[in-house]
Parts: sequence; structure tokens; C-alpha cells
Amino acid sequence: MKKKIAIVKGDGIGPEVINEGIKILETIEQYSDYKFNFIEAPMGGNVWKKFGDSLPESSFEIMKQSDAILFGAVGLPDIPQGVAEKAILRVRQDLDLYVNLRPVKLYPSLHDMCPLKTEIVEEGIDISIFRENTESVYAQIGGIVNQESAINSMVYTRKGVSRIIEYAFNFVKKNKLEELISVDKANILTVSQFWRQIFQEIGSNYAQIKQINYYVDAFCQWLIRDPSSIRTVVTENMFGDIVSDEAAYLVGSLGMGASGNINPHGVSMYEPIHGSAPDIAGQEIANPIGTILSIKMMFEESFQDVKMGKFIDKAVEDSLRSNRTSDIYSKYAQNNVNIKRVNCKEMGDAIVKRLEILLKN
Ligand code: IPM
Ligand code: MG
Repeated sequence: MKKKIAIVKGDGIGPEVINEGIKILETIEQYSDYKFNFIEAPMGGNVWKKFGDSLPESSFEIMKQSDAILFGAVGLPDIPQGVAEKAILRVRQDLDLYVNLRPVKLYPSLHDMCPLKTEIVEEGIDISIFRENTESVYAQIGGIVNQESAINSMVYTRKGVSRIIEYAFNFVKKNKLEELISVDKANILTVSQFWRQIFQEIGSNYAQIKQINYYVDAFCQWLIRDPSSIRTVVTENMFGDIVSDEAAYLVGSLGMGASGNINPHGVSMYEPIHGSAPDIAGQEIANPIGTILSIKMMFEESFQDVKMGKFIDKAVEDSLRSNRTSDIYSKYAQNNVNIKRVNCKEMGDAIVKRLEILLKN
């Protein structure tokens, strides 16, 4: 199986974590029928400094013509606000990556990293957040009015709302889960009432799935009160942005978070959620697991290879038992002689080693 993968290393810790991701892909190449063709597509702050454009047309072409995009991070402290963000938004919009899937999973060996009390998370955390990724305030409609006020419009279309809700329902059905939680602000926003109406309409085709409507403010509380009882969530773009950051923190570190910007009928982009973290860039201490779990999603979503996804997940889980990067090196880890503090490369190596064993068998 030949796959063309566009590689966006980007800024800050982007290149460091992507290098570890490439090691995982090369390992898979060695022990399976996959053949990868990696093509670099420069994007972000460093590119903007050189060419005055954070997403050169040539890079966008490479992305468009690939089978999947692996994205590190973009953003630098010394570039104007919005420059790097604009590049990400353009890719999401122009490739119509309307599903932003953000899984949040607490690995058993990382329970000590969860900021919540042990009794709250005894049953673990395993949440899939489906964030609409093209509309709402991210449509960027608005502006400053006479220097006296500023407006951003929250834009929802029937097409945009329907397709993300449908995708989330399908996920629940496919994975034989019981319920879908829709997060909105229907007590205030007309757009949310529109969303809720469409959720109900589509939901009538999924009568066997329990359907729950929740206001976003109350949902933020539920998320820290009882995260084990939440499995699948669908929400609009900005609420998804906010609740997914809150949820990501529950599993210990942003460094663990993976995401997929998915076009179910086209090219999709996979990215760790941690961002460029310029304060630790170049030190080789970043956690590559967010990237490696994004690659897991690439196999599941773009290559329809759930089995390979499971191997990657298992390799990560096994490696975490005895290896931790500094973002997850807790007091508990310090006091445990079996847990080593490792750098970015060493974490990547540990996962490669486990993956080799799993793929050989
Ligand atoms: C995210 C980020 C982006 C967003 C920014 C960088 C544009 O916060 O992916 O969650 O707001 O969507
Ligand atoms: Mg965000």
C-alpha cells in the first residue's frame, strides 16, 4: 500500500515531535506492506518570516495531493498574532476538514497525572469529542465598527451542522456505544436552537442511541465532576475548541493529546494538540506521544486500518509503564524506580521498540 504523506514540521517543538512520528511510520513500513512517500510542506511562522506567507501555495498543493497530512505545530512569539492561526484555518476551510475529532483517554499507568481526585476517575476517562471545524465564529465574518464596537458572527448552515452531527451519530453506532451528548447554548443563542433542532431531526434516525442535550457551561462542570460517565460529545466549533482543552488537561498533559482534522471524503490532517511551545523548543524534551497518537488516528480514519491503530496505541501504553517525558514526570514517577525520565527521542525509541515486537508477532 503506497501512501503519500505531507509532512508539516512547522515551528517550535513541531520538528522534534514530527521526527519521532516519522520513526513510527518507518517502523511500520519495515514490518508491513505500507510504503510511505514523505513530502515536506513548509508552513507556519518560520516560513512567514522568509516568504511573507504562512501557507505558501506550493505547500498547500502538496497537502492537497497527499493521502494524509501529518502536522506538527505552528506559531512563534515574534510574529504578529493571527499569522500562524490563519494558515491552520485556511487548511481546515479549503480542504473542508469539517470533523475535528479529539479523543481524550487516560492511560492506566498515568492515573497519577490526572488533576482530579482518584475516586472521581477510578473508572477511567475515554471521551471522543467531535468538534465542527469550519463554521461558527471561525467563518471569520465580522469586524471593527467605527472603532466603537466589534462584531463576529456565529454562522451555522444546515449542511455544516448536519454533517458533523451525522458523523458523530455514526461513530456511536459503529462503536456500539450507548449515547451521544450534544453541547450547545440553546437557552441563549438562536444558532444553538437551530443546532438542537437538527440534532433532533437526525437523531430520529438513531432511535436506539440515547440523546442528551447539554448547555456548554453546565457541560464544563460535568467534565470535571464525572468525566468517566462521558463517552461521545458533538459540538460546534468554538465550544469544541474550549471544552476540548479542558478535557485534554484531565489526562495529565497537553503533550498526550492527539487530533484529526477530517474530511471523510478527502485528505485529512492529523496534529498533536499541544502547539509550538517555543519556550521548550530545541531542548528535545517535548512529549512526542500527541504526534504518535495522531498517527494512530491517521491509520484509523484515513487508511481504514483499525488494527494498526490498536498496535500503535498498545505500543504507547506499554512504553508509558516505564518511560515518561518531563511533562508527565510526576512525584509518583520520581519515587518509582521502574519509571525512567526520558527525552523526546528516547520516548520515540521506546515506542518504536514496543511496536517492532507487536508487529513482528
Ligand atoms: C485548536 C487551536 C486553534 C483553534 C487555533 C490555533 C487557531 O486552538 O486547534 O484548538 O482555535 O482552533
Ligand atoms: Mg484550541
